[in-house]
Amino acid sequence: MRVNNSTSQVSIIIPTYNESKNIIRVLETISRNLPKNILTEAIVVDDNSPDGTGRLVEDYLKSVKKIADYTIEIIHRKAKDGLGSAILKGIQQAKGDTIVVMDSDFSHPPQIIPKLIETIKKYQYDIAVASRYIKGGKIQGWSLKRKLMSKFATLIAKKGLGINTKDPMSGFFAFKRSIIKELNIDAIGYKFLLEILVKTKDVTIKEIPYTFQNREFGSSKLSIKTIFDYYRSVWKLYRYGKPLEKQEKRSSVKFLSKAGRFYTVGASGFIVNYMISLLFTGGISDMWYLHANVIGIIASITTNFILNKTWTFEDSDFRVKKTISQYGKFAMFSSLGALVQLGMVYFLVDSNEVSYPIALILAVMTAAFGNFVLNKKWTFKEKLLG
Ligand code: GDD
Ligand code: MN
Repeated sequence: MRVNNSTSQVSIIIPTYNESKNIIRVLETISRNLPKNILTEAIVVDDNSPDGTGRLVEDYLKSVKKIADYTIEIIHRKAKDGLGSAILKGIQQAKGDTIVVMDSDFSHPPQIIPKLIETIKKYQYDIAVASRYIKGGKIQGWSLKRKLMSKFATLIAKKGLGINTKDPMSGFFAFKRSIIKELNIDAIGYKFLLEILVKTKDVTIKEIPYTFQNREFGSSKLSIKTIFDYYRSVWKLYRYGKPLEKQEKRSSVKFLSKAGRFYTVGASGFIVNYMISLLFTGGISDMWYLHANVIGIIASITTNFILNKTWTFEDSDFRVKKTISQYGKFAMFSSLGALVQLGMVYFLVDSNEVSYPIALILAVMTAAFGNFVLNKKWTFKEKLLG
């Protein structure tokens, strides 16, 4: 199939990863559901699928009969680099002023494409979202668990980011290319539409109901990493929305407020430690008190770590390797802090300069401050001030 000489008006972006059982039928169905009298191009973005999806499409392009006003092309990327970045790649290559994005596994019925395009071209909306969560839309074939996950993710987007669209997690949508021209798109994970919805201002959005069908062939690429990516991108988008003047700039204030949070977390850790140690020596089992205390210490280091990571240092990157290495450092510094504390109490009390309660307070404060500085710099890799 040859490339159009004139520029296309509509570009349909179709990312594929291991879709050999679907992609050709999807392309055929799209050709039967093209918008009338509009130059259209389909762009498949394949990430070197091990099942040969890319080659299959190449062969198909050689054999297929040309349809007026319609072209298909394929972009080959070297490796699997995520759905969002595949979409972005397709858009960069696209010639259309209107972009349609859809999956290649028949979850997104191509019959809806003309409606999405009409919403933009004829009714002049900026964004058209194929929606599962408005009247007339539904989901077929998903487990209860997957449905709940989707609902929960949607809820977070709506409440956390103040989105009004009913299905901001839709992977099936169209938009005027001009609305993203000035934007800096991160394209983390699956949530391309969500990012556009958060970053654009004063755009008009229309939702079109459709029935999402779970794929018949192949498997979903949604993984634990996708889910972490989602929370990471929501967090980033959340911060994006905050007006600049609300973000504290003075580094001394930032330092003190973080130190304050760190101390607060420390206090909460003390409570966790205390409760768990008591719980295991009498509450739920009759463990030896030292064993119980070890569990208490480990539990409080863990809760302290999670709270300091997410709250004190505002780090929501939970990639496994990174998180484990941070946790290791954090636990190491905590143990170091305990040693410093013991040593200080011993010296102060032994020298008869101060009483035990005062020595204890001084030692705890010093150890905690040292811990704060070490974790700020080495565990969470922040500048010491700021
Ligand atoms: N090129 C490329 N690279 N394509 C990918 C990649 C990737 O790394 N990961 C996934 N895809 C393609 C798949 O081949 C498929 O066509 C489409 O992106 C969606 O992937 P699925 O793995 O089928 O996603 P899903 O069905 O679990 O999720 C769908 O529903 C969500 C709504 O809850 C998608 O439409 C999501 O975008 C949507 O948010
Ligand atoms: Mn799918």
